[in-house]
Amino acid sequence: MNDNKTAHMALEYDEKIRATIPNYDLFHSETIDLVKRINPTPQKWLDTGCGTGTFAVDAMKAFKSTKFVLADPSAEMMDIAMKKIDKTDSMKMESLGILSTEEIELPDESFDVITAIQAHHYLQQEGRKAATKNCFRLLKPGGIYITFENIRPLSEAGLKIGLERWKQFQILQGKSDEEAHKHIYRLDKEYFPITIEEHLELLRTAGFSTVEVFWASYMQAGFYGMKE
Ligand SMILES: C[S@@+](CC[C@H](N)C(=O)[O-])C[C@H]1O[C@@H](n2cnc3c(N)ncnc32)[C@H](O)[C@@H]1O
Repeated sequence: MNDNKTAHMALEYDEKIRATIPNYDLFHSETIDLVKRINPTPQKWLDTGCGTGTFAVDAMKAFKSTKFVLADPSAEMMDIAMKKIDKTDSMKMESLGILSTEEIELPDESFDVITAIQAHHYLQQEGRKAATKNCFRLLKPGGIYITFENIRPLSEAGLKIGLERWKQFQILQGKSDEEAHKHIYRLDKEYFPITIEEHLELLRTAGFSTVEVFWASYMQAGFYGMKE
């Protein structure tokens, strides 16, 4: 039994993730770059689905005056994140506790920035809607929500090609054929990717005005939504 929804136990996540998700570090650097261009001095930033806290540590270094709030439904992931952050700057960080995005009950308009990096593709349609709406509710007017997600190619043929490319990426990083196959074919059983257009519609339906895809490669993409 795993201690979180990813394919890896929390303790091995940092070691394995770069052999699992192509361009993993780019998700973090692209997000930081985007926020810098839109709001270089956010006051409060929620990173939901923070995992082991790698992104939060990078963001804290890049945004010196920002207060960061972290949440994740896995106690084991949060524990590793907290230890990492203690070594960085615990004064700038607050843990919300062991919570999924859809469970966060802070007051409306609490944050300038919300990030959810590879955190919501474990949810099915209603869960995703609830999580995205909650992020909209929690943002201040003018705030930005950024999410990276697994995406579903538009056709069955495209899906087959996308999965094969993703599998070959993992094999090139040293995974066995069996391990890579097992990871990829959690599709529609443990992770539920939706198309880029469905992602954009999800953001529009939640209430976001400016809605964009700003990065895509393999079967992952980055989206943002601005709240008017
Ligand atoms: C692939 S990891 C990504 C972690 C981190 N954001 C990163 O960039 O490394 C996915 C994380 O999402 C968390 N997660 C799963 N379901 C979630 C939900 N409904 N809301 C928020 N986070 C969730 C998992 O516990 C896990 O830590």
